Amino acid sequence: MLKLVNLNVDIADGPILRDISCVFERATTVGVVGRNGAGKTTLLRSIMGLCRLRTGEIWLDDIDLSRLPGHLRAQHHVGYAPENRVIFPSMTVEENLRLPCKAQKLSRQAIDQRLEVTLGVVPEIEPMLQRSGAALSGGQGKMVALGRALMVGTRLLLLDEPFQGLAPKLSNLYTEALSRLKGVRPELSVIITESNTKLLGAIPDHVWTIERGAMWLNLEEKP
Ligand SMILES: Nc1ncnc2c1ncn2[C@@H]1O[C@H](COP(=O)(O)OP(=O)(O)O)[C@@H](O)[C@H]1O
Ligand SMILES: [Mg+2]
Repeated sequence: MLKLVNLNVDIADGPILRDISCVFERATTVGVVGRNGAGKTTLLRSIMGLCRLRTGEIWLDDIDLSRLPGHLRAQHHVGYAPENRVIFPSMTVEENLRLPCKAQKLSRQAIDQRLEVTLGVVPEIEPMLQRSGAALSGGQGKMVALGRALMVGTRLLLLDEPFQGLAPKLSNLYTEALSRLKGVRPELSVIITESNTKLLGAIPDHVWTIERGAMWLNLEEKP
């Protein structure tokens, strides 16, 4: 479970996140929807320790992530696929996938096992494994970014606008990957941001709205 308590984040002295308190349960997929500039990326970056909090706490079960420097947060099994995918162009896709696990000093055997699970969830990555990270289209890069986040994100997965710019066919493949993921890691919490609720379809169990840095739960019934 991820619990945000009274988060306030300022950038250049202006308030960007305002008094955000919410709980993301285990085994749930939650959408955070808001227009451009609402604060979605800042929210995910704050959870990862890439933005300084003015106030607040970020609890992952009984660990206060907000007391940990950014580079130690992913070690608590948090995976993050940023909005602009950040695949290293000088490495192959497979090296890109293995990298975050290597950084955490997982054994070769453990990394092989993670890779197998990841390819089971996102099989589209398999034929790209030996390709250079520089040779991917935007959509392929998003699939690889999902895979890389899955390699470490066995407890919490943060996906920043994954559907933005994806062609309908890839969008469907991405959705199928997320539904396979629920079967493989049923306890995982997933947070997906989007600017357009429709793109999320039936994926999220709940949707939060974010507007000018404030967040509230959408109480409309799931369609
Ligand atoms: N590095 C930055 N410098 C100044 N303002 C920023 C910076 N990053 C984000 N902002 C501002 O913070 C607000 C929220 O941005 P962001 O979290 O990127 O929104 P979203 O992801 O919902 O589009 C916006 O008003 C944006 O202009
Ligand atoms: Mg954003």
